[in-house]
Amino acid sequence: MSRCSAPGKMILLGEHAVVFGKPAVALAINLRISSAVSKSTQYSVNGRAMQKRHHAYISAALDQAWGGPPINVDTISEIPSGSGLGSSAAVTVSCVAAMMASKGKFNHEAVAKKSFAVELKVQGSASPTDTSTSTHGEGVIVSPEKLDGFLWRIEHGDNAWNMHHCDVPKLRFVVGYTGIHAATGPLVAGVRSLVESNKDARRSIDRIGEIVMDGVEALSKQDKKRLGQLMNEDHELLNGLGVGHSALEELVVAARPLSFGAKLTGAGGGGSMIALTDDVEKVSEAIRSAGGEPIVVSVGAEGVRRDD
Ligand code: PMV
Repeated sequence: MSRCSAPGKMILLGEHAVVFGKPAVALAINLRISSAVSKSTQYSVNGRAMQKRHHAYISAALDQAWGGPPINVDTISEIPSGSGLGSSAAVTVSCVAAMMASKGKFNHEAVAKKSFAVELKVQGSASPTDTSTSTHGEGVIVSPEKLDGFLWRIEHGDNAWNMHHCDVPKLRFVVGYTGIHAATGPLVAGVRSLVESNKDARRSIDRIGEIVMDGVEALSKQDKKRLGQLMNEDHELLNGLGVGHSALEELVVAARPLSFGAKLTGAGGGGSMIALTDDVEKVSEAIRSAGGEPIVVSVGAEGVRRDD
């Protein structure tokens, strides 16, 4: 048997623009998914027969990383599913890693690449941000150019993403989950059609790329005030790209007076927002009063690891 666990993530800055090759920065969080693979008489998940549709990520992980005799996959998750905190990436990365470990082939770059292929197959369209962050842990800067701290490069179609290590200071964020699950694929497709037809949308994508690099600098200086300003600006640009939602806006508005900054995180259209604050209790209360579910997370968690 092999067991591996992988962290969830939050996108600090750069979601959506990263699909167009712009930089993004994502941070691993202290909530994990643990997956174990063991010999079995049939392909199964948590002891029950695997259903390709219901277990889409695990089934695609088997195609990418296994190709052996039937196995059972046991998963234990601390990450609320559909919350935008990277549960699908963490289940994929932990399963791929456990499968590769049981074949004696565990290595981070291969896990990241195979896990991206799994997300692509299931979602149709994706950047490798989530899966590489869940694999590497700590923080990951995605960039079209090679920078210091280079980890690996992932290519797909006309796009190429260089992944880099990002040092992450000890920070806590409050995540506000709207309870609304919005699929990433259609939101990405909506932004794509806007960008193809609208000059302002293209400008917003470029500006998000600049914000990300300023944000990386603010993060390295632990300049929470500047980082918060950049988060706020990024959020407005994302709203302009049509991925906001009234429920998200209520949580952002509730959190901002008590925070350095607040923005949606991930695909939007529901999902979650994040607030950077020194007062996680008060912001949690404000988010709850505005109808959201607050989750306090710390960032910079360890990446995928063997737990057997
Ligand atoms: O829905 P999430 O949290 O996995 O985030 C998606 C982020 C996007 O930039 C919108 C898409 C992507 O694959 O990078």
